[in-house]
Amino acid sequence: MNKEMNLSVDKKYEKILASVKEELSCSAHDIDHIFRVYNLGMLIAKSEKQVDMDVLISAILLHDIARVKEDRDITGSIDHAVLGSEMADSILSGLGYEKDTIEEIKHCIISHRYRSNSKPRTIEAKILFDADKLDGIGAIGIVRSFMMSAQYGSKLYEDISQHKQTEVNLTELSEPKNRLKHPPNIEFEVKFKKIPESLYTKKAKAIAEERKKYMESFFERLREEVKGLR
Ligand SMILES: [Fe+2]
Repeated sequence: MNKEMNLSVDKKYEKILASVKEELSCSAHDIDHIFRVYNLGMLIAKSEKQVDMDVLISAILLHDIARVKEDRDITGSIDHAVLGSEMADSILSGLGYEKDTIEEIKHCIISHRYRSNSKPRTIEAKILFDADKLDGIGAIGIVRSFMMSAQYGSKLYEDISQHKQTEVNLTELSEPKNRLKHPPNIEFEVKFKKIPESLYTKKAKAIAEERKKYMESFFERLREEVKGLR
């Protein structure tokens, strides 16, 4: 782990990661996503002041621990951010973390979700939120969204004009219950392209703008190929 993540040797992070690896197995939210979010989180943290690195690193490692449980929940009642913070609580308590630190980490996990009512209020929570969202856009975002589509059997491409007739249609598409029913180009319209404006840190916003442009040109090219224009 230390080699991959360039972390200084810290046994507690090894232990956290072992628990996370056990829980994550689906393709788009696997352990590599955690490593990418870690790398982005460290990059963003360099441009911010007074970041508690222990809170940030622990939160990054644990933020998606309940993701597979949410994906496999047929009732649709599990929120991985909420359940994840509860699972984190017991892991961190077992590792001897202070109560206050655990609360800080739990806040980061609860508020990291894009479609959530709980918003990040600390710098560590904002960095985790931004790093996690950045990993959903750009070249990685394109690949990840097609992996999700394949998993849920949605189409490769759908004409946005079918949905654009009313704003209501687009709002409906962006609801969590509908997120897996449409192809990546529609998810780009209802979610991905709004990500840069939803981020908190200056560094992440700059990266997001550039990644959004890359995605935009990819989906435009895909549209042209689907229509037989190229
Ligand atoms: Fe994540």
